[in-house]
Amino acid sequence: MELNLLTLCYLIGSITFIVGLKMLSHPESARKGNLVAAFGMAISIVGTIFLYQENGEGLHNYVWIFAALIIGTVIGVLAAKKVKMTAMPELVSLFNGMGGACAALISIIEFKHITHHFSIASVAAPLTEVPYATYLSIFAGLIIGSVSFAGSIIAWGKLNGSIKDFSFKGQQVFNIVLFVFAIALSAYLIVNLTADTLPLFYVVLVASLVYGVLFVLPIGGADMPVVISLLNSFTGVAAACGGFLYNNQVMLTGGILVGAAGTLLTILMCKAMNRSLLNVLIGSFGASSGGTQQAVTGSYKEIALSDAAVCMSYANKVIIVPGYGLAVAQAQHICHELEKILEEKGVDVKYAIHPVAGRMPGHMNVLLAEADVDYDKLLEMEAANDEFKQTDVVLILGANDVVNPAAKTDPASPIYGMPILEVEQAKTVIVNKRSMKPGYAGIENALFFQPKTSMLFGDAKAALQKLVAEIKSM
Ligand code: TAP
Repeated sequence: MELNLLTLCYLIGSITFIVGLKMLSHPESARKGNLVAAFGMAISIVGTIFLYQENGEGLHNYVWIFAALIIGTVIGVLAAKKVKMTAMPELVSLFNGMGGACAALISIIEFKHITHHFSIASVAAPLTEVPYATYLSIFAGLIIGSVSFAGSIIAWGKLNGSIKDFSFKGQQVFNIVLFVFAIALSAYLIVNLTADTLPLFYVVLVASLVYGVLFVLPIGGADMPVVISLLNSFTGVAAACGGFLYNNQVMLTGGILVGAAGTLLTILMCKAMNRSLLNVLIGSFGASSGGTQQAVTGSYKEIALSDAAVCMSYANKVIIVPGYGLAVAQAQHICHELEKILEEKGVDVKYAIHPVAGRMPGHMNVLLAEADVDYDKLLEMEAANDEFKQTDVVLILGANDVVNPAAKTDPASPIYGMPILEVEQAKTVIVNKRSMKPGYAGIENALFFQPKTSMLFGDAKAALQKLVAEIKSM
């Protein structure tokens, strides 16, 4: 009876994960989707704690279990409540790292569990008692979980600026050798495990941790989102290994869903940034090809607020390009207000969304959905690039790299090859930012110096408030 009830809990958990994931694919339903999946997770955890039985006995250690649950919940809730929208990728990285660490810890504990009698007497490996598949799940969980943990912590440090890019000559080759070594040693141990070879398990652990660090350390510039998404898929696969190990269906389903979703997102982002997955795996990208970047020369011109107001009010079509600066300034609500007053004046207003605008996948979609911007107004990159030709004014709000023409014209640029929003096809371009400082990739932007471009300096929220007031008074 209890087993059936537990199976039912796992079934509910698995179904809610799938439904929640589906709901996450649309900004309007994403919040509810998250709650639905969290509900399923709660049912699965509570079910496991109270209903799981082995040899007729339930779980022990309730004090430890609940102490860990309470501490984890408090830290998780506080961290999620406190975090700024712009620091969300750091938090995602950290949470992901914790998932990887859990998977690796499961492997360590289970390995000790099934091999503890080796230390008592030096005997041959009990491969007849322990199936190969069990060892395989343990080693896979150990390697993938450790890489994910170490890599995510480095990614977290890089995103918050505390860890700088680092690489040495021959690092790519070293990375590959290290990775192959960890796998080969695991394969050797699976078939040759004895009391003497037991400590080599920890060599696999250390090699995987070092690989995780070296894999992420050299990656910089515009490519970090791909790495975080890839590490996320690693964590999913590592958790699925735990599911195999414990024959736990909900852990397996959850892990596979995370692994698959992370892999798909990685592929989509690679496409959006024009990087191959192989480059990601050997940790060699994000740097320029080594040539000298084209110098950006000329002068830029500023536009007065009143001129910008006139220019936009009398346009037929305006496309707004939101970027990281809009998120920092929390200017999404006032941006929606600008859209409404322009539409009242008969202007057709749309938003062009670059897949990596901001600091995490879907960053701009979430922000604009929060401000009630109609989802039909959002154009994806390809659609936007088709519409810029018929656009009178493009208003860029705190975006920089995603509109930098060097991605198309300068092979020495670190963002060369990344598809961009081709805003220069519009008749007029107005750029709002606070200064002439570069964006995330740290490079100059020739767009700002083009004759059709004018700069509207200031914080995005303040500038938009003044712009809206100016248009209202016209
Ligand atoms: P960025 O290239 O980072 O440019 C943002 C611009 O916003 C800066 O040039 C900055 O100029 C301006 N800004 C900052 N605060 C502002 C404020 N309060 N008001 C107005 N402007 C402000 O952003 P982007 O164009 O959105 O490109 C995203 C970049 O981040 C890409 O390189 C992408 O690869 C990378 N990235 C993306 C992700 C994902 S998945 N979205 C994750 C990690 C990294 P001032 O300082 O002069 O104001």
